[in-house]
This record gives sequence, structure tokens and C-alpha cells, in this order.
Amino acid sequence: MHIRLNAAALVLCISSCGLALADIQQRADANLLDRCPGYKIDHFGKVKHGFDATLELAGAPCNVYGKDILSLILSVRFDTKDRLHVHIRDSAGKQYQIPHSVIPLDIGSGVSESSSNLKFSYFHDPKTGFGFEVHRGTDVIFDTTGHPLIFEDQYLEITSSLPRNANIYGIGESPDYFRRDSSNTTKTLWNRDAADPFRENVYGSHSVYMELRQGLFHGAYLHNSHGMDIVLANDTIQYRVLGGTADFYFFAGTSALAVIDQYTELVGRPNQIPYWSLGFHNCRYGYKSVYEVNEVIANYSSANIPLEVAWTDIDYMDKTRDFTFDLVNFPLSEMQKQLQTLHERKQKMVLIIDPAILHSSSYPTYVRGHDLDVFIKNADGTEYIGQVWPGYTVFPDWFAPNTDKWWHGELQQCFDQLQIDGMWIDMNEASSFCTGSCGSGKPDDEIPPYPWLLESVEPPHRKINTTDKYLVPPYAIHNPLPEISDKTIETTAVHANGIIEYHVHNLYGYMESRTTRDFLLRHRPNERPFLLSRSTFSGSGALANHWTGDNAATWQDLHLSIASVFDFGIFGIPMVGADICGFNGNTTEELCARWIELGAFYPFSRDHNAIGMVPQELYRWDSVAEASRRALNVRYSLLPYFYTMYQHSVELGWPVARPLVFEFPGIPAVIDNDRQMLIGDGILVSPVLQKGAVSVDAFFPSGRWYDWYTFVEITGSSSNITLSAPLEHVNVHIRGGKIIATQPPALTTAEAREHDFSLLVATDYHGTASGELFVDDGQTLSSDHRWVQFEYADQALRIDHRSEGSFAIQQRISRIVLLGVPDIGMVFVNNIPAVSKISSKNGSIVICDLKIDINNATTISFL
Ligand SMILES: *[C@@H]1O[C@H](CO)[C@@H](O)[C@H](O)[C@H]1NC(C)=O
Ligand SMILES: *[C@@H]1O[C@H](CO)[C@@H](O)[C@H](O)[C@H]1NC(C)=O
Ligand SMILES: *[C@@H]1O[C@H](CO)[C@@H](O)[C@H](O)[C@H]1NC(C)=O
Ligand SMILES: *[C@@H]1O[C@H](CO)[C@@H](O)[C@H](O)[C@H]1NC(C)=O
Ligand SMILES: *[C@@H]1O[C@H](CO)[C@@H](O)[C@H](O)[C@H]1NC(C)=O
Ligand SMILES: *[C@@H]1O[C@H](CO)[C@@H](O)[C@H](O)[C@H]1NC(C)=O
Ligand SMILES: *[C@@H]1O[C@H](CO)[C@@H](O)[C@H](O)[C@H]1NC(C)=O
Ligand SMILES: *[C@@H]1O[C@H](CO)[C@@H](O)[C@H](O)[C@H]1NC(C)=O
Repeated sequence: MHIRLNAAALVLCISSCGLALADIQQRADANLLDRCPGYKIDHFGKVKHGFDATLELAGAPCNVYGKDILSLILSVRFDTKDRLHVHIRDSAGKQYQIPHSVIPLDIGSGVSESSSNLKFSYFHDPKTGFGFEVHRGTDVIFDTTGHPLIFEDQYLEITSSLPRNANIYGIGESPDYFRRDSSNTTKTLWNRDAADPFRENVYGSHSVYMELRQGLFHGAYLHNSHGMDIVLANDTIQYRVLGGTADFYFFAGTSALAVIDQYTELVGRPNQIPYWSLGFHNCRYGYKSVYEVNEVIANYSSANIPLEVAWTDIDYMDKTRDFTFDLVNFPLSEMQKQLQTLHERKQKMVLIIDPAILHSSSYPTYVRGHDLDVFIKNADGTEYIGQVWPGYTVFPDWFAPNTDKWWHGELQQCFDQLQIDGMWIDMNEASSFCTGSCGSGKPDDEIPPYPWLLESVEPPHRKINTTDKYLVPPYAIHNPLPEISDKTIETTAVHANGIIEYHVHNLYGYMESRTTRDFLLRHRPNERPFLLSRSTFSGSGALANHWTGDNAATWQDLHLSIASVFDFGIFGIPMVGADICGFNGNTTEELCARWIELGAFYPFSRDHNAIGMVPQELYRWDSVAEASRRALNVRYSLLPYFYTMYQHSVELGWPVARPLVFEFPGIPAVIDNDRQMLIGDGILVSPVLQKGAVSVDAFFPSGRWYDWYTFVEITGSSSNITLSAPLEHVNVHIRGGKIIATQPPALTTAEAREHDFSLLVATDYHGTASGELFVDDGQTLSSDHRWVQFEYADQALRIDHRSEGSFAIQQRISRIVLLGVPDIGMVFVNNIPAVSKISSKNGSIVICDLKIDINNATTISFL
């Protein structure tokens, strides 16, 4: 949520206030950059697991966007056999670096150069000085040849050559097509509350990319919290960073999943989620009362559409103040009743909390925080005061020593009143509706006038001190607002450790996620927290989950949502989804139907709507309700599969929702496919993304594929196939060669989990298939678990286990569907004839009435 500062409003401001980026930020002449001398390497020497060297400026300083740093240290470490760490930092150690206490990166045990899959070499170019290359075999995956290193206090520039038309994925957060345009892309990393403008910077920062070359992937990550531009153009990738150090990690791949595994091993594996969070969620901004939400819950139920979680936005609060309840429309007693009813029906409740705290001596949360000295300051030591929903606000300083204690205390009081199931932290870029400490010096209880809530009104602006190098950094990143401090906390605001916001702006949401998750863990030890955060940074996946923010109810945003979900798969935040049916703007019946048909397969599946828009709960139109029942039936049937795929995320970082190119990197036709989505490696979803369409051109890699609903086989031949797609239907296919465990759907995940399993055995051309099922209690952190393995070959299905875990699975396999096999007459379980019912359907064989215990190794043969 939710300030709707659209492009039109922005243009208005730039022209009417006479401020434009070009006016307030001096841009260096390109020729000046040419004068940068680069560095001279010296003292290069072997150390344990790597090399060290020094770098000295190789000529007169160019001082283009700051002051050249004369003396640097280079360290190279073979962290693991697939991860190389190259760090260039100032010898004086004055440049800001993200502390290990804030983001605990994996250090790696260290390997020798000879056992590393990546090699490092450096060179000295007479014109551009020091450069380095990272090799994987004969492939040079990072290469700064011919591009001088520029290392100034407020500007780093590192440039690496790319192949022509490179296949680059990642770098965000930014709504865009999945395959970035490598000839003309500027990605700005500066966390920003903006309603998903195409290709611009939005809520989070992830300076990681993957590249696909000749069927193999590799990756690179720059660990740096400063604002930056990452530019793809002229067959290079160029980092232009507002400070810090050049702290690079390279990942050898070679599959897409391996790169993500290597990256999440470094920054943190995705958090374990509760099983229920895979159910369907409903939310909107603008519910008028708890009674209206009660009606929504009841209406889902009477429409027979599964609703797992009822969410309420800031509407529930008293005058939009955190930790309060509106006395009239959302009284606590009624909220408690709602929660109790939800829990009786095995449903859940999630509420929103914003970081901004009303600045008022009559607001106890503020008073307690003020007394504990937990808020961000101005340079003169007074509290920094911005403006958010409740009025003039202060902002928690996550670096201050008492902040965790205070934040946990406030949350505890709230949870003592209402035991909600999960939390949603929003507006944590952090968003502020004015620029600068706009409320500082105002009396405590002054309430600002309201115009900032309205879309048509210009955002507040001010005369800027252009000589302050932190307010107006010499290099202007492409943040599309006049100042980088606009709509957020000013860059000169001060944290408890003396660090100014300039260096740590991008970490705000990450740090809020950490302390909020810590509270949830402390409050319910051993229970898996569910936390959703709008702002994220590298490593956030270990702490929180994400939705793609304030999208629009447009066909374009429906399409782009797939790429955003894929991006967050790379970023290590696989529990992600977009607002189904669109947030801003009025949706339509057709768009909403098509959206739930896709959204039912987002790992995080939530309908969310803005205030003032036409209602879009799934039961509002008959066609949408029907599309929802059908698509969510598929999702709920696949819950055991989604959960198994998510466990791969927890253990190895692998994304749940994957582009075809991750599984089929050798097929050139899929390098830019962001119109279809694989769930794991076995289910392919081909949604309609075009208004009026009743068919979809879907790409099928070579091999056997089976229609989810009819079991009819499709022969993939690495080309498009036109599939029929009437309004209420979404095409879903099972990949030949995979075995998928399902459970009959229900209206809640708890109920669905009770049912016996079905196995879909989808054979490939060799008549074989395999798959896995992960089962645990879905709730506690210490749960025992079990990995069940399935192998089908020679007309026999073998069920076995990984050696770890001994969770006792109550549910049996009651049904097996064999896809793409010849007819059978008998079924034997461990060589004993089994009582069962065998039928065939469109060339597949359905065996019912089985009762197979999957806690033991078992062989089922079909004769
Ligand atoms: C490069 O991208 C920018 C921003 O999207 C666009 O305005 C410009 O026209 C593009 N340039 C070329 C040469 O395509
Ligand atoms: C690409 O090259 C052109 C022509 O030399 C230059 O104008 C442009 O700034 C370059 N772009 C980048 C991102 O380096
Ligand atoms: C719930 O359904 C009833 C009966 O169709 C309808 O009158 C009411 O407006 C609906 N309320 C909401 C909030 O959807
Ligand atoms: C502008 O910023 C500079 C550098 O921080 C400072 O010295 C100067 O006093 C400021 N000017 C005003 C008018 O605040
Ligand atoms: C959405 O629909 C409502 C009700 O019809 C209308 O009042 C509002 O102006 C519409 N908003 C937009 C952004 O189209
Ligand atoms: C398949 O269809 C999609 C959607 O119309 C299109 O973008 C794509 O280029 C087609 N691919 C091939 C290989 O024809
Ligand atoms: C067999 O497939 C056809 C479509 O090809 C479908 O209409 C029919 O319902 C399917 N039969 C069964 C039993 O699912
Ligand atoms: C089946 O597995 C369960 C649970 O692991 C175990 O207790 C039991 O002894 C096994 N039974 C057989 C016959 O192997």
C-alpha cells in the first residue's frame, strides 16, 4: 500500500516545481570518466584459499563523482568449490560495509584453487590499469578488461564484458520482462514505494543476476547496501554504486537451480513456512468494518471457494495507528470473535503493521519508544519526523540498542489481545509522504492536513541544498524522483550507530523483517512464523515472504506478474505472488477470472484490492467464482506437491515457480518465455494473458505431456501448440517422467491434508517416471519429517525413503493413475494381489480402492 503517486503526478511535479534531476544533480562529462587512471596492482600473493594484493591509484585522481581513493586492498577467496569471493575495499576501512550482524553471510569453509570450479586472474592494461577475470573452464564469466576500476568515496564503477545479446535474468526489484534487455537496461536499486511502474525501481534491492550461456548458467552478486544503477548496454554490465566497497561473489552454476542454491547458501535459505500459508488468501484495503469482513468470509464459504486466510489492511486500526483497533468499526471484541470463528473453521487471520509511528505525546507507543530512544534522528539529535497514514510520524531505528525490546513489547501487547496467525509489514522502504524531516519543530500533537492522501495532489517538495553531497550525491542514480530522499526517510537522517540513512536506506525493510520475525519466534517458540514484507533485500527470504506490491488491474500487469515471481525465485524469496485481480484500478470480470487462473498457482496466492475500487472477491461474478473453484481445486489437489517443492526451497533455495528456461536451458525458444509457469519441474501452467482470447499458444518442450483434467496426452515437439481455453478454464499439464502426489481438495488446507493420497505416474517415452513427497507436521520448526521417493519402471512402482527422518504418515495411497502405459489387469502390492478397482480413461489407467502404507518400502506391480 498504497500511495498512488503515478507517473502523471510525477511529471506534474517536475515541471511545476522547476526541479528536475538534471537541475539538481551535476552529471559528469563522459570525458572526465575517460581520465580516470585505474589502479596498479602490487604485492599479489597467495594466502590460504586465495590471494591478497594491494591496489594503488595509477595516475592523477579524476574525482568525477567524489574523491578517488588512493589505496585499496584486493582479496580473493575460494569460499566453496562453486563460489568465488572477490572483494576490493579501501585500505583505510572507512567505506561503509554491511555488518555481519545485520546480514550474516555464509563464510564458506574455503577450498584450494585447484578444487575450485572458478578461477581468478588479473592483468594490467597500460591504459586502464588493473582488471580481473573470473573463469569457469574455458568460459570467462566476468571480465573487466579494458574498463578502469573507479573507486571513489561516493562512486564505484565496475564494468564487465558480456557476450552480444546476453541472456541476463535477475537484478531488481523492478517490474519488467523476465529476460532483461541486455542492450538497453538500467536497473536502479533504491527501495521505493511506487505502484509497480514498468522497469523502474520499486520496493526491494537485489543486486544479483544470472546469465545463461550455451545452455549453462552462472551468477554474480554485489554485496553492497548503497543506491546503485546496474546498466546493461554496449555488451557490458556496469555497476555504478553510491559508496561502500566492491564486494563480489561469483557462482559457478551450471544449472539455474545450482546458481540459486549457491546464492542462497551465501545470503540465507528461504524460511520454513507453515502449511496453511499455501492456502488461498483474501484481502482488501477499504473494508469498512469487521462485519463486512465477516460477510466476506461467509460469502467465500457459501460460494464453495476455499478461503484459508482473512486479511485486514490498515482499516482495522484506530486512526491508522499501529497496535490499536477502531473502536466503532473494528472493535477488539468483534475482532476476537472473528478470530475465534476463523480458528473453529481451521482458517487464519493476518493483520498489517507499518513501521511509521504517530508522533504524539498522547500515543503510548510513541511515548514508550521515545523514552527508550528508539527513533531515527536528525543531524542535530532531535527526532526525524516524516508523514505517513496517521499524520506526522517517527521511524524505528533498527540499529538502536532498545528498538527490538520496544518493538517486541508493542507487538506483545497487541498479540495479548488478539492471537493473530501471521503478520504483514508494509510501507517499510520506508515510505514517507513528504521530503525531509517535515514535521520536525512542529508541536507533538499537530495533525498535518490531509491532501497527501489524494492522488491528484502534488507530492510535497522543497528547496534543496545542492551542496550537501549526501542529499545530492554527485552521481545521480536513475531514481525517478527529483531527490533520492523523496517519499522516504532523508539520506542525512542519523542512526544510533552514527551511520546516516544514505548508506543503509535499502536495508530498512530487511531489518524490520528480522526483528519482527524474532518476535514471532519468541512469542510462539517452535512455531513457524508467517511474515509478509513489502521491502526486501538480499537474504530477506530467510526472514519473510513477499508480494509484488501495488500492481494495477491491467492485462500488462497480469503478464508481468509471472516475471516478478520468477525474479523473486532468483532472489531467494520463493514464497511470492502478485495481487490477484490487480490492486489499483477497477478490475473486470474477465481479467479477474484469468488472474485467479494464474494466481491459483503463485506460491503465495492472495486477492488484494485498493480502496475505492469495485469489489473483486472471487465470488463477485459467477464466471470468476467458477474459474476460482476449478483453478483452486487444482492448487489444493497439488498442495502436497507445492509443499514438497517448497521444501526444496528451504534446503537448496530452488524456486517453486520456474520459467521453462530453468528446466530446458538448451532450447533457444524458451529463453524469454515468461508467459507460462512451471511448478517445480513437473507441472506446467499455460494461462490466458490476453483480453478476449479463448485459446492460448503454449510452448511444449519435446516429450510427453498430459492434460491435468482429461489425462489426454500431448506430444511436445519444442514448438507452440494452440490449446483451447474457455473463460473458466486454465490449462495445466503434467510432464512425462514425473510422479506427483496429490490429495483430494477441500475448503481448507487442514482438511485437505487429512485425505488419502493419489499418485499421478506420468511416464516418459522410456515408460519410466520418478518423484518425491515431503511430509512433516507443517507447523513446528522441530517437526520430524519424511522424504518418500517414487520410482516407476518395468511396470512396477517402488516406494522408498531417504534415510533421514521418521515422521509417521497417517494417510495412505488410495489411488494410482498410470499415464501413458499399456492396459493392465492386476495389481500386486509386495507380490500380493491387491483389492482394487481398475478403470481406464482416455488412454490412462486409474486404480482405486487401494490402501498402501507409505511408511514402508513397498513395490507395486501392474500386470
Ligand atoms: C532504452 O530504454 C529507454 C528506457 O526504457 C528508452 O527510453 C529508450 O528509447 C531505449 N533506447 C533504445 C535505443 O532502445
Ligand atoms: C554505450 O555506448 C554509447 C556510444 O559510445 C554511449 O553513448 C553510451 O553512453 C554507452 N552506454 C553505456 C551504458 O555505457
Ligand atoms: C455477501 O453476500 C450477500 C448475499 O449475496 C450480499 O448481499 C452481500 O453484499 C455480500 N457481502 C460481501 C461483503 O461480499
Ligand atoms: C548545505 O550543505 C552544506 C554541506 O552539508 C552545509 O555546509 C551548508 O551549511 C548547507 N547550507 C544550508 C543553507 O543549509
Ligand atoms: C472504479 O469504479 C468506481 C465505481 O464504479 C468508480 O467510482 C471509480 O471512479 C473507478 N475508479 C477507477 C480508477 O476507474
Ligand atoms: C509461442 O506463442 C507465444 C505467445 O503467442 C509467442 O510469444 C511465441 O513467440 C511463440 N513461440 C514460438 C516458438 O513460436
Ligand atoms: C477424455 O478426453 C476428452 C477430451 O479429449 C474429454 O472431453 C473427456 O471428458 C475425457 N474423458 C474422461 C473420462 O475424462
Ligand atoms: C513400517 O514403517 C513403520 C514406521 O517407520 C515401522 O514402525 C514399521 O516397523 C514398518 N513395518 C514394516 C513391516 O516394515
